[in-house]
Amino acid sequence: MKILSVETSCDETSVAIVEDGRKVLSNRIYSQIDIHKKYGGVVPEIASRNHVVKLPYIVEEALSESGLGFSDIDAIGVTNGPGLVGALLVGVSGAKALAYSLGLPIIGVHHIEGHIAANFLQYPELEPPFLALVVSGGHSHLVMVKDYHTFEILGRTRDDAAGEAYDKISRVLGLGYPGGPAIDKAAKAGDPHAIEFPRVFLEKDSYDFSFSGLKSAVLNYLNSMKMKGQPVATADVAASFQLAVVEVLVEKTIHCAVENKMDKICMAGGVSANSLLRSMMQARADAAGIALYYPDPILCTDNAAMIGSMAYYNYLNGDLSNLYLNAVPSMKIGSQHKK
Ligand code: KG4
Ligand code: ZN
Repeated sequence: MKILSVETSCDETSVAIVEDGRKVLSNRIYSQIDIHKKYGGVVPEIASRNHVVKLPYIVEEALSESGLGFSDIDAIGVTNGPGLVGALLVGVSGAKALAYSLGLPIIGVHHIEGHIAANFLQYPELEPPFLALVVSGGHSHLVMVKDYHTFEILGRTRDDAAGEAYDKISRVLGLGYPGGPAIDKAAKAGDPHAIEFPRVFLEKDSYDFSFSGLKSAVLNYLNSMKMKGQPVATADVAASFQLAVVEVLVEKTIHCAVENKMDKICMAGGVSANSLLRSMMQARADAAGIALYYPDPILCTDNAAMIGSMAYYNYLNGDLSNLYLNAVPSMKIGSQHKK
């Protein structure tokens, strides 16, 4: 079964064609980063306007990359939440237009479930159950993936998402947008133990995250250096901040997997492209005898292939949408599935 999928929840306009949920036949991603860079972050209305202009061309590109035509497509998948409402509406409307004109079923996909499904593309043999750490610009979740349509959130951020913290700290350090890759790169030249920023673990046995205290600690440190007229070693701040984020993500995830007797962990979302997170999680998972999975960086950040994978499993579960499909900017994980 070949699904043409559309992802426009934030600032990537992406269209993919995925076969049977596991094989990427094409995955075109038009990133608006250069447009939003000058504002230091995504401007929602500008994102929507660019999706409207780009989407038809990206559909054409995805078809031509796969060597297929519309007549080869069996269904249309689309991210309908969570995300920026205007941006989602463009993708949902475009996908509905395709489904209607081609007479194909339409399948709404939850964006975070899509991020998790990126692992199915990377590892064709991977099956649930597993624990997923989903870390992106908008989310930091620990999710028990019981099967393809049963998701239980065990922990979530109480304030900033991990990627949001990266983006904010990058901005104050003058490293630009998006912050994750910039800090990842800058940190390589820095000493991660130069500054001891706080690690916020919250209550014992809580799987929730909190990154706002760390963000304030970095801002306070930068302010105090400024007041004292001392120079800031940007690479050291980047490395020390990154270690504080990653240590908490790794400790909580491993603890959660061990407590819940899970022998598989999957990472997903933009922040799972982080080099330190990958290496530290790998070392801790190996020591605990847990298998670790994470997709190639291109499948970690927003892309339509992951949506095409999840759309297939929604289809198998009978979770089809129809032309009443709408954007749901704060959609709950698992809410679109029949039990
Ligand atoms: O999954 P994603 O593309 O979009 C959302 O659903 O939010 O994630 C984007 C986030 C941004 O905050 C970006 O700074 C972060 O992922 N990111 C990274 C890295 N690459 C992207 N964070 C840390 N290290 C990276 N290498
Ligand atoms: Zn995302």
